[in-house]
Amino acid sequence: MKIVVIGGTGLIGSKLVAQLRARGHEALAASPNTGVNTLTGEGLADALKGAQVVVDVANSPSFEDKAVLDFFETSGRNLLAAEARAGVQHHVALSVVGTERLLGSGYFRAKFAQEQLIEASPVPYTIVRATQFFEFLGAIAQSGADADTVRLSPAMVQPMASDDVAAAVADFALGPAVNGMVEIAGPERVSLAALVQRYLRDTGDTRTVVPDARAPYYGVELNDEPLTPADHPRLGTIDYARWMAMPRPAPRK
Ligand SMILES: NC(=O)c1ccc[n+]([C@@H]2O[C@H](COP(=O)([O-])OP(=O)(O)OC[C@H]3O[C@@H](n4cnc5c(N)ncnc54)[C@H](OP(=O)(O)O)[C@@H]3O)[C@@H](O)[C@H]2O)c1
Repeated sequence: MKIVVIGGTGLIGSKLVAQLRARGHEALAASPNTGVNTLTGEGLADALKGAQVVVDVANSPSFEDKAVLDFFETSGRNLLAAEARAGVQHHVALSVVGTERLLGSGYFRAKFAQEQLIEASPVPYTIVRATQFFEFLGAIAQSGADADTVRLSPAMVQPMASDDVAAAVADFALGPAVNGMVEIAGPERVSLAALVQRYLRDTGDTRTVVPDARAPYYGVELNDEPLTPADHPRLGTIDYARWMAMPRPAPRK
C-alpha cells in the first residue's frame, strides 16, 4: 500500500517511514526537503498519486501565534483538498492530548484549527492525540528557564518516547479510519517539574527546577487534567528510564 508521510523527514516522520517500510509498505517521506510543501502546494499532487493513506506529522517551523496558525490552517486546507482530488481513503494526523483544554496557547489554537479542518473534510480520518514526547523535555525546560533556575508546573504528565509514537501511528495508519480521535500516552504518570529535574540531572545540566503551580506551560496555567489522557489511552512500553538509556542524538536544549 502507498502511504504518504507529510513531515516524513522529522522526528516522528522519519521513524514512521522506517516502520512502514519495514512492514512492507511503500512509504513516501514528503516534506520541503524532498520537494513537497503543503504550505505552497508544491509537489503535493504528484506525491499523492496512487496513495491510499496520508499521515500528517508535519510541524510548523515557527511557534509564533500567527505563524503557527497560518501553517496548520493553510497546510491543512491544501493537503485535505489535494487528498480529496486524489481519492485518498484515510487521513491520519498527529495532534496533542488535551488540545481543546489548552486554547490559551497559540500553538494549541493552531492544532485545534487543524483538527477542525480534518473533521469537516470529506476524507475519512483518524486523529491520533499523543502526550509530550520525551525528546521534547529539553525544549520544555528551556521554556521555563531563567538563569540557573527553571520554573515549571508540578502538574501530572504522561510523556512517551518517539519510537512508541511512531509505532502507534503506524498501526492506526494501517487500520481502518476511526472518523474520530484516539489517545496515546506513555506508561507512567509523573510530575512535569520532577521529570524535567531528573532529565536535567541525567543530561549533566546543573540548573534547578522550581515547582510552581502558576508557571505557564506555553502560555497556559495547568492543573492536573490538561496534559494527561482520558480513560483507556493506548499506552507505549518505553518509560523514562528505558528511554534515557537508549542510544540517541544529543538532547535538544
Ligand atoms: N513535541 C511533542 O511533545 C508533541 C506531542 C504530541 C504531538 N506532537 C505533534 O507531532 C507532530 C510532529 O512533531 P515532530 O517533533 O516530529 O516534528 P519535527 O521533527 O519538527 O518535524 C517537522 C516536519 O514537518 C515538515 N515540514 C515543515 N514545513 C513543512 C511544509 N511546509 N510542508 C510539508 N512539511 C513541512 C519538516 O520538513 P523538513 O525537514 O523538510 O523541514 C519536518 O519533516 C507535530 O504535528 C506536533 O504537533 C508533538
